[in-house]
Amino acid sequence: MFYKGIIFDLDGVICFTDKYHYEAWKETADEIDVYFDEVINNRLRGISRMASLEIILERSQKEYTKEEKEKIAYEKNERYKKLLHQMSPEDLSAEVKDTLDTLRQRGCKLAIGSSSRNTKLILERLGLKGYFDAVSDGTNITRSKPDPEVFLKAAEFLGYAPSDCLVVEDALAGIDAAVAGGFDSAGVGEAATHGKVTYPLKTFSDLLKIERDS
Ligand code: G6P
Ligand code: MG
Repeated sequence: MFYKGIIFDLDGVICFTDKYHYEAWKETADEIDVYFDEVINNRLRGISRMASLEIILERSQKEYTKEEKEKIAYEKNERYKKLLHQMSPEDLSAEVKDTLDTLRQRGCKLAIGSSSRNTKLILERLGLKGYFDAVSDGTNITRSKPDPEVFLKAAEFLGYAPSDCLVVEDALAGIDAAVAGGFDSAGVGEAATHGKVTYPLKTFSDLLKIERDS
């Protein structure tokens, strides 16, 4: 039996918001005079906004209060949201859309499992509002990846056990979360190199070639 539910991470899997995260964090880090580059940005994949800020502030000489950190994170997000308005349905690739449609035609239920609190805005910008059978995101969790909470909630929203669902991820922290939650996983990009990924994929549409061993 193939998986009843497929849970997709959003950033880096369904769409590519990395460049916007980078630009918004870079401007924010420059403003507080903290060094930031693409290598540090890669460490932020799949990690919540506040946890991302903690990683960025590893390079800071200054200690920040909780309120100051919240203000910095807020400002980053305002910059990020402005950049997200550049996104449109054209940013959804035909490969991703056709693969999702085919999986659905095969009878799979599709969900989002993303740490982002901007998930609904991004789905709207991509023309995918209302497309998924369930959306679990940064607004309904208290612990971000590598904790499995976001995927466990997605499975619960779909009404399936983790063993009936496949998680699709681009982040190493996302594969850790899938493993911790008892899910099989498919990895694209860096996640394909994770030692515990069930199916390393070369490209998103390889999802259609997966044959589940049972
Ligand atoms: C995704 C991205 C992370 C980002 C996180 C929170 O998981 O891969 O880089 O930090 O979402 O995003 P948010 O939109 O809530 O700031
Ligand atoms: Mg991701």
